[in-house]
Amino acid sequence: MPTAKKALPPGIRHLPDHFDRPAQQALVDDIRRVVEAAPLFTPAMPRTGKEMSVRMTNCGELGWVTDKERGYRYQPTHPVTAEPWPPIPDTLLDLWRAVADHPDPPQACLVNFYSDSAKMGLHQDRDESDFSAPVVSVSLGDDCLFRVGGVNRNDPTQSFRLRSGDVVILGGEGRLAFHGVDRIYPETSTLLKNGGRINLTLRRVTISV
Ligand code: SIN
Ligand code: MN
Repeated sequence: MPTAKKALPPGIRHLPDHFDRPAQQALVDDIRRVVEAAPLFTPAMPRTGKEMSVRMTNCGELGWVTDKERGYRYQPTHPVTAEPWPPIPDTLLDLWRAVADHPDPPQACLVNFYSDSAKMGLHQDRDESDFSAPVVSVSLGDDCLFRVGGVNRNDPTQSFRLRSGDVVILGGEGRLAFHGVDRIYPETSTLLKNGGRINLTLRRVTISV
């Protein structure tokens, strides 16, 4: 008999297979255009300068960046090209309207690219001023093991697999939940020609007036 699935922490929603394969392919084409305008860069941790294993870029009016000198922040331009970020693709704006339950559109879309060995340690998304809007995340490409807990670092966590086309929403009580990516499962998807995983996270950054 299959074991019952554990309920997710409050405010965390997992929408498996939200995007079907053609929609995933169209999103990959959108992201390819974003990366052409705003190339992937390697972010570095504040103070230590230790490079993260994911590469990233952004679209939207603001993008999340980090480097040794200035740490985690949002800024309107790419850290290497100094150009404004390209706009957020319509499909992602539609997704936000459908699931975010927030009157204003997302301001930032972080694009994370995970190679086979990349991961992301347990953290909170708290560089935004507006926690009333959720974080909406889309997975494309290879599966990963996603971990999520509560709002305190020591709260119990649970992990589950995210697959291409899945959407996760961290909202309400779960907006500041600790989360991370334990590992990528290489060669579990044929969506990306050269493998790997893309994660897109949509966020509001400033408080709406
Ligand atoms: C993130 O927390 O920025 C990314 C989460 C994910 O890759 O699913
Ligand atoms: Mn995060």
